[in-house]
Amino acid sequence: MTVHSKPWSPASWRDKPVVQVPDYPDAQALEAVENQLSTFPPLVFAGEARRLKAKLARVAEGEAFLLQGGDCAESFAEHGADPIRDFFRVFLQMAAILTYAAQSPVVKVGRIAGQFAKPRSSPTEKDGDIELPIYRGDIINGTEFNAESRIPDPARMLKAYRQSAATLNLLRAFATGGYANLEHVHQWTLDFVDGSPQSERYQALADRITETLAFMRACGIDAEHTDALRSTEFYTSHEALLLGYEQAFARVDSTTGGWYATSGHMIWIGDRTRQPDHAHIEFCRGVQNPIGLKCGPSLEPDGLLRLIDILNPQNEPGRLTLIARFGAGKVGDHLPGLVRAVAREGRSVVWSCDPMHGNTIKAANGYKTRPFDDILTEVEGFFDVHQAEGTHAGGIHIEMTGKNVTECTGGARAITDDDLSSRYHTHCDPRLNADQSLELAFLVAERLNKERAGRGRTFQPAASVASL
Ligand code: PEP
Ligand code: CO
Repeated sequence: MTVHSKPWSPASWRDKPVVQVPDYPDAQALEAVENQLSTFPPLVFAGEARRLKAKLARVAEGEAFLLQGGDCAESFAEHGADPIRDFFRVFLQMAAILTYAAQSPVVKVGRIAGQFAKPRSSPTEKDGDIELPIYRGDIINGTEFNAESRIPDPARMLKAYRQSAATLNLLRAFATGGYANLEHVHQWTLDFVDGSPQSERYQALADRITETLAFMRACGIDAEHTDALRSTEFYTSHEALLLGYEQAFARVDSTTGGWYATSGHMIWIGDRTRQPDHAHIEFCRGVQNPIGLKCGPSLEPDGLLRLIDILNPQNEPGRLTLIARFGAGKVGDHLPGLVRAVAREGRSVVWSCDPMHGNTIKAANGYKTRPFDDILTEVEGFFDVHQAEGTHAGGIHIEMTGKNVTECTGGARAITDDDLSSRYHTHCDPRLNADQSLELAFLVAERLNKERAGRGRTFQPAASVASL
């Protein structure tokens, strides 16, 4: 009998070992909140999650690219229209650049509207002689360094739900209400290119997009007349860490009778909570959403195949996205074995690259940071492996913000260790700022363009793009 032969239910994870979930001091208060959440409206619909799965199936088949990104952790204090708008703008710019380079659809999935709970490497944190429980995300406890704020408070789940609903509401309006107009998005990109120290490097690709839009406009295909240029499809995702919250939003889809996580379109399993016989895998195996699985250095090919058996027994394309997060120096050692095992066994997956979580370091002044060069090196390594194995480098998964924060070092407008203190706002891990995000998009665009050329598509890339 295998560990997962017992029937699944939204609560079956409760019979399994679990790590990284908080110890709530008041079990009754917790239960009351979870019961209340289970009566609240879903944040997303099953049909939307199915549609995302169909789009990811195209990524798995090599016909599309996945862009997934957003905050490491959303915060209650920074909840407002501006950060959401700024994130969305940069995200759309990245997507437009990648769409053009890949000449194929880009599936847009935010780490947003539910990305509140954080797995941590250590259960406590020390400042001088004082040791306190670690901050685990605004949905669980507070960042302030005092004992009171670090007590897990179930009422925070209600607040996270309300914030997610408000965020999603604005995102839906942005996606369909004119803000996503491709012509505007491209104008913002031109402004970025004009002001970038790497302007020359990006200009050719930007010019090609300008020409293409002008050509389309001349043919009568413009935002005024064409819905696809005026609006976009945008999906939400978060780590399914806080299982009591997730259980409350597991709902039966009336169309198919299947269970869906309605807390977000896609949920993922973190690198610290992917033990095959543990609670997080148990919960995720039973919901029909697209699922992400973080793959870090401790994951061996056999372990991965076992997890795939559990999470995607029907080998359904689009169901599973494997998010490789090894670190710049490790991706070349670890990824090929996993890619080969998956290919050998004929498993359909999306391969995505998270170049953030394996590249976190502490700067000399104590700030947690990530060198932009390491992030690029990991992305390059990821593409190299897929090129060598003949598989599709399907996507990137990044921590980013639309604001010009100073959290990751490097980039064209080089941020140094000394700059980190100036605008270091993240509640958890260091994010790419707006400029660094766009730079990354241009650099990934170069690789996608090469991949496309290597696959011998009949469409020949324009010389100016190919030479980027
Ligand atoms: C994250 O994505 O924020 C995260 C904690 O990642 P990982 O599980 O890969 O460490
Ligand atoms: Co993170």
